[in-house]
Amino acid sequence: MYQLIRKLLFLFDAESVHYFAMNTFKLGCRIGFIRKMLTASFKPVSANPATLFGLHFPNRIGLAAGFDKNALFLSELEVMGFGYVEIGTVTPLPQAGNDKPRLFRLPKDKALINRMGFNNDGVKVVAARLKKWKEQHASSPLIIGGNIGKNKVTPNEDAWKDYEICFRELYDVVDYFVVNVSSPNTPGLRALQEKDSLHKILSHLQTINHQLTPSGAEAKPLLLKIAPDLTVEQIDDVVDLALEIQLDGLVAANTTISRDNLQTPASTLEAIGAGGLSGKPLLTRSTEVVRYICEKTGGKIPVIGSGGIFTGEDAAAKAAAGAVMVQIWTGFIYEGPAIVKKISSKWKA
Ligand SMILES: Cc1cc2nc3c(=O)[nH]c(=O)nc-3n(C[C@H](O)[C@H](O)[C@H](O)COP(=O)(O)O)c2cc1C
Repeated sequence: MYQLIRKLLFLFDAESVHYFAMNTFKLGCRIGFIRKMLTASFKPVSANPATLFGLHFPNRIGLAAGFDKNALFLSELEVMGFGYVEIGTVTPLPQAGNDKPRLFRLPKDKALINRMGFNNDGVKVVAARLKKWKEQHASSPLIIGGNIGKNKVTPNEDAWKDYEICFRELYDVVDYFVVNVSSPNTPGLRALQEKDSLHKILSHLQTINHQLTPSGAEAKPLLLKIAPDLTVEQIDDVVDLALEIQLDGLVAANTTISRDNLQTPASTLEAIGAGGLSGKPLLTRSTEVVRYICEKTGGKIPVIGSGGIFTGEDAAAKAAAGAVMVQIWTGFIYEGPAIVKKISSKWKA
């Protein structure tokens, strides 16, 4: 059924269709019996809960950052069976992102290329939206992660200030944080993955985290999202730092700048231009990164696997490499809103 709908949706611009489809789904969910019907039909086949970072995740299948950047579709994503949603990347000030078009499908590769450039409503608006949602859905078990970044205009030497602003604003309304220094679409951002820059940002956030945590309570889980393009030496640095700063986990991995081994013709890739590649071509590399970190640390640092997950087998491969949970983005576009159910029928950690 979705394969038919997909054919139709793929006739239109990828970014516009994203919002059209989600808003249509949202409208449907406003009608009580339709919402109930959808909830029942997308319900994961088997519950796959996890207690991690002191949080209870109703399901290990989450939605990766960048899909619901502005926290607009949380209830609808819950209807689709996701156990957690990572909102963002949000930045201190709202920003429009790069010029359109900036999201491209590569159907031959079951992939996407994007250069969105952290388009978002800004952390204040998103925090207010989340506060309202939490008040209205106090009994929801959905876990919400806050993925934070820096504005394009902020120079890298001041990046730590942007991360602090986002952290403080979202502290009361998200369950965990992910520091994003790995998107390829903000000029210079990935240079922040270098050891000294990362140390400054993360140790500063941990200090604030402990200041904001009421006595007797657990600090907010703080994770770092890394690029799949890091060298072994760079991953080693990240792991050392994660252990030193007592990060709660890593998300591996973001989109890649590589264009290796694609079926899409070189001329098409050239016409699309710069951006991060996601989807099937990322599956092997991101799983390798997960495996490397898990083996190196003996599982001391929990890793959330992200990259190319379309099926239960893909999720199981991430888990076999050591991932404690998984996140999906591009698979949703190709497999449709029943993707959580489909994965859950084949994968139980
Ligand atoms: C259009 C698009 C926008 C994205 N935006 C973000 C973002 O804002 N922050 C982030 O950390 N990752 C972002 N990502 C990366 C995804 O969260 C995910 O890590 C990556 O796409 C690999 O997973 P996938 O192969 O399942 O898509 C984005 C991905 C896509 C396709």
